[in-house]
Amino acid sequence: MNAANTNIIVHGDRTMALWEGASAWQLDPQTLSSMGPVDWEKRLTHAPFSAHPSPDRDGSLWNFGHVPWAGKLILYHIGSDGVLKRSAVLHAPETGMVHDFAVTDRSLILVIPPFRYDPHRADHTSSFLDMHRWHEAQPVEILVINKSSLEIRRRRQIDPGFHFHLGAAREFSDGTIELDMCQYRDASVLQNLFLDQLTARPGAQPLQKQVLLRPASTTGTVQTIHERPSEFPHSTLAHTGQTDRPYGWSIGLDPKTGLFRFAQGINMATGKVDQFDYGEGTYLEEHIFVPDPKNAGDTGWLIGLHHSISAGTTQLSVFNAFQLSDGPIATARLNQAMPPGLHGSFATTQA
Ligand SMILES: [Fe+2]
Repeated sequence: MNAANTNIIVHGDRTMALWEGASAWQLDPQTLSSMGPVDWEKRLTHAPFSAHPSPDRDGSLWNFGHVPWAGKLILYHIGSDGVLKRSAVLHAPETGMVHDFAVTDRSLILVIPPFRYDPHRADHTSSFLDMHRWHEAQPVEILVINKSSLEIRRRRQIDPGFHFHLGAAREFSDGTIELDMCQYRDASVLQNLFLDQLTARPGAQPLQKQVLLRPASTTGTVQTIHERPSEFPHSTLAHTGQTDRPYGWSIGLDPKTGLFRFAQGINMATGKVDQFDYGEGTYLEEHIFVPDPKNAGDTGWLIGLHHSISAGTTQLSVFNAFQLSDGPIATARLNQAMPPGLHGSFATTQA
């Protein structure tokens, strides 16, 4: 089975639909018709390829695939031409479910919550999630993988918590690593995706946190960047590598309804939030930062879809990424509602 329903990206000459349970699935970019699984190399046919590949600054693409039933972690490095440059299959028994990762100049960072595949729960009636179990007393494990050797360079731990998404990571010359993520207290969001669960349980909503890993310590520290419940983090760092102006974006939950309602820009150094409120009765999807190619990420746009529940419409909004509170500078509205999705990508097309 290959659902490929979580994300979609364009890389090389391929348009690929992605999920984390199996291989990428290629689509025709004009018609969006199905073309079949992407076969990077024979030994990895149909192997998991996560929904969150990460571009490097040289135009290449990194990704991982988690194979919990075999205790393996696959690493992929794909050139800007779409051809696989290197791969590695790491022995990783009892690794928790990992959805996203981050790339620095030297390392791949996998942050792994204690939500682990349990072979005793795996049978033909179980969903993929039902095969996992939350271990509330166990720490989050962080693997730092050397980009040159594709070997695990360091293992670190932080206190228990669950997350889907990382924003970006940066690695300093002394080996200190800083990354941000949207973290939940536990994994209950996975099995209770009902709005009343998100709103009724104190502490159940995700908060944007910063993790600091120092080379001399096996445990990292975690700080809350701001107190507004947030998901789908993005960062200038992932696009430019510039560390002097760390800035991020996310979408914010309405704490009363559990619906994504706010577009948020965050000064990552101060935690100051620049926010646009779409209003009650709206539901947002991921909002994406698109850097201005003429200005190396110092200017750019935030783009995203939202649904008006009362009007039954879907709208695309474009913001000045650093002035969200001014409201959209351009919009495009469909006169009908598209089914809500999760992720999205921005791709340029050739005229
Ligand atoms: Fe995701």
